[in-house]
Amino acid sequence: MRQAETAVAQPGALDQVRLAANRQLNPERKAELGQFMTPESVANFMAGLFSQRTGSIRLLDAGAGVGSLTAAFLNRWGADDVCATAYEIDGKLASYLRETMHAYGNGKFEATVIDRDFIQDAVYRITMGRKGAGFTHAILNPPYKKINSGSEHRALLRAVKLETVNLYTAFVGLAIELMAPGGEMVAIVPRSFCNGPYYKPFREWMTAKASVEHLHLFHSRTSAFNDDEVLQENVIIKLVRGKKQGKVTITTASDIGFSDLEAHDYRFAEIVHDGDECSRRGRTEVYPCAYSAIAWRSERRTFG
Ligand SMILES: C[S@@+](CC[C@H](N)C(=O)[O-])C[C@H]1O[C@@H](n2cnc3c(N)ncnc32)[C@H](O)[C@@H]1O
Repeated sequence: MRQAETAVAQPGALDQVRLAANRQLNPERKAELGQFMTPESVANFMAGLFSQRTGSIRLLDAGAGVGSLTAAFLNRWGADDVCATAYEIDGKLASYLRETMHAYGNGKFEATVIDRDFIQDAVYRITMGRKGAGFTHAILNPPYKKINSGSEHRALLRAVKLETVNLYTAFVGLAIELMAPGGEMVAIVPRSFCNGPYYKPFREWMTAKASVEHLHLFHSRTSAFNDDEVLQENVIIKLVRGKKQGKVTITTASDIGFSDLEAHDYRFAEIVHDGDECSRRGRTEVYPCAYSAIAWRSERRTFG
């Protein structure tokens, strides 16, 4: 289904593009590439988490699908003086993505769609010193899939000293590295990175390079990706590259309508706990081994 220009700015239009593309996806490839696309209301919520824009923007959308996140960003903050770079490895989705970008092409807006592997490209940029001025903004719903220890992805990530076990943490880690100082990232990701030893190097990478500004927790396991029946617990996280860690805003809502949104601020220390495994080594686990305590606290404050 082709969208008329400007139509993607109309409420509901992005969901139609997403659902049309979804129907054409091969189920095996969909699982292989983690092609679970963001509903429009979630994309809009994510776009709203960025700070007020102040000047020209260099936006990154890695694993962009049909471009729902970039479109939500452009609808929220305007396309003028925005230079968007979107990676999408799947050729069919990349052609939808080009159409989405095309809809914003009238003003001072530049878009580059790269239909290649983001990990390969990002590692190349980093190792060859081709990061340029860095992205000022990134909006991500990266693919979610285990990275095998002997795989090419794992070897590439090692080349930039990012030890991680899943595509989503690889995407977020590399995107952080590609950002300009003060650059803001909003990503929707599984919450598995919050706990356990496998994700510890990623947590250390993330907190060494960025501050955590905001976490949004979904009450229901299914609520972020209902259409795809994804039984995955997701969080939305906002990071700021190179900023000193301050308080963290935690929001909760019972569904993707966000009508009962509640927000609370926490000291970072309140969401960082000494985990058993870490305290044995005398080190602090970043993010609670007891992460569920946050969700529980927030729920109590919401409904208690
Ligand atoms: C979880 S989907 C999200 C799509 C879109 N960001 C959204 O929010 O609707 C992840 C996307 O990343 C793409 N992808 C998977 N592996 C990739 C890679 N190595 N490089 C670039 N894109 C990739 C998939 O084809 C898929 O469209």
